[in-house]
Amino acid sequence: MKSRGGRSGRIPENETSAADLIPTNVSLAALCSAAAGCRACDLWKSATQTVFGEGSPKSAIMLVGEQPGDKEDQTGRPFVGPAGKILDDALRLAGIDRNQVYVTNVVKHFRWSPDERGKRRIHKRPRSCEIQACHPWLDAEIRLVQPRILVCMGATAAQALLGNNFSVTRQRGRWVRSSLAPKVMGTVHPSSILRARDSESRDSQMQAFVRDLDAVARTLKVKDSFRDELSLFA
Ligand code: URA
Ligand code: SF4
Repeated sequence: MKSRGGRSGRIPENETSAADLIPTNVSLAALCSAAAGCRACDLWKSATQTVFGEGSPKSAIMLVGEQPGDKEDQTGRPFVGPAGKILDDALRLAGIDRNQVYVTNVVKHFRWSPDERGKRRIHKRPRSCEIQACHPWLDAEIRLVQPRILVCMGATAAQALLGNNFSVTRQRGRWVRSSLAPKVMGTVHPSSILRARDSESRDSQMQAFVRDLDAVARTLKVKDSFRDELSLFA
């Protein structure tokens, strides 16, 4: 793959995919700085900055969301707003340390439109052309981190990575076969829990999300203890 943007320092506009901008054989940090100048779709124009994935390149778990929200756009970090708080709570309840997780999104710029009064920025779902344009960044993150467990949160991430036929409602919380990682799962997006109609349904949706993450934690522990046993015989 060529590294046009990286070599010349000039990022061509009107690209249809970020593929040509991806530097090869680089660290996550270098990938992140290359993505900061991405103009492969139009979303950069109305966003503040690229919000790249965050976490250790050695993370065993990768969580993939949809796109940054308002707070993420302002801070430049994924899952730091209200959905991020839900995610943090769910990870804690499942006994997973967020510092051991690599967190990213399918689309790296915030897509929004102003509300009627022009005061708030309302999240809009990314279009499929934007998802496609941005996909090479996510592919590169997966290649570099090589997570043992990959979790797609919400339909946008699940369908982008597992195919358009993936149904979060029907298939959530189950391990699915995929070449992306040894263990791959789709589950709900934490922001769907924020939208619950009352506190009762919010609680049960949260419990179900934590149950899915519990399965992730259990799988990791089983794998860890298996590896410990293997190393005893090494
Ligand atoms: N929703 C997402 O999908 N990603 C974020 O980073 C924040 C909210
Ligand atoms: Fe590039 Fe993705 Fe941003 Fe579009 S959303 S400009 S492809 S980083």
